[in-house]
Amino acid sequence: MSKIPVWFDADTGVDDATALLLANTLDELEIVGISCVAGNVPVDQVTKNTLQICDLMNKQYPVYKGAEKPWFKEYHDACFFHGKNGIGDAILPEPTYEPGEAKAWDALHEAALRYEGKLEVIAVGPLTNIATAIVKYPDLKKLVKRVLIMGGSASGGNTTPAAEFNIYEDPHAAQTLFMSGIPVVMCGLEVTMKAYLTMEQIDEVHAHHTSVTDFYYACTRRSHTVSKSLGLPGLCIHDACPVLFAAHPELFKGEEAGVFVETQSELTLGKTVTDLYSDFQFPEKNTFVVTDIDRDKFAKIMMDALMSYRD
Ligand code: RIB
Ligand code: CA
Repeated sequence: MSKIPVWFDADTGVDDATALLLANTLDELEIVGISCVAGNVPVDQVTKNTLQICDLMNKQYPVYKGAEKPWFKEYHDACFFHGKNGIGDAILPEPTYEPGEAKAWDALHEAALRYEGKLEVIAVGPLTNIATAIVKYPDLKKLVKRVLIMGGSASGGNTTPAAEFNIYEDPHAAQTLFMSGIPVVMCGLEVTMKAYLTMEQIDEVHAHHTSVTDFYYACTRRSHTVSKSLGLPGLCIHDACPVLFAAHPELFKGEEAGVFVETQSELTLGKTVTDLYSDFQFPEKNTFVVTDIDRDKFAKIMMDALMSYRD
């Protein structure tokens, strides 16, 4: 079975790092390149974190720096959740290599040309890099098979009552993706809030005591404490969902829908408006909205992936 070539775009924070650690272990996927976008933390920190995670995996994937801020909005970080350095203030050795010279959107386009329509993009941060590539390269929509995102929600938000962080941070970029004609798989909060590990499961992973499991334990202390204070049953690994969907869609449920992003209203800015449940239906079904996951299988795959790394 040939591997699926994937481009990973992230704002490497705790769950982005975990998603990358997962993607690297899935035989179905071939990570072609990684691009960094401002989100959880500023883009220079995102880039450093990403390089450090690649070193931790001992896989020096090509990494490219992208947008320092959203297209039109002010940049806001999520350090309260991800820690000042974005990886829960866990400490990793300095990166052993540098990011590529090219800008994220240029490197993404070059990879899309190379894979001649087979490239799948997994975007787990604000969509600024992806949308910039779409606008700069009109042929991109013919070269990218689909874009799988962690973002949005068919119901309420986590950053505002209406909007999820990745979409809210750059709603104009998100709307550009949804309007582009490129097929989108949206792993929104409906499914990602079900993709969690409990404290006991994190402790089980930690008991393995490898560099990866020790890092995972250290980087999740802060976000797990915040999650517990919110009454959540565990630590949601939001960004692992599009990664796992790309390799194992059979673990998920969802349906085709029309999805478009609110970019004008102050009250609902960044809301992913979906016609999943409405009488009014958008003229086109531009998105597969993922709504459910087999959590037990997710947890086993996630834990096995983290424990599969050897020192
Ligand atoms: O809303 C959760 C999303 O925002 C995740 O991708 C997290 O890493 C942050 O980027
Ligand atoms: Ca993210």
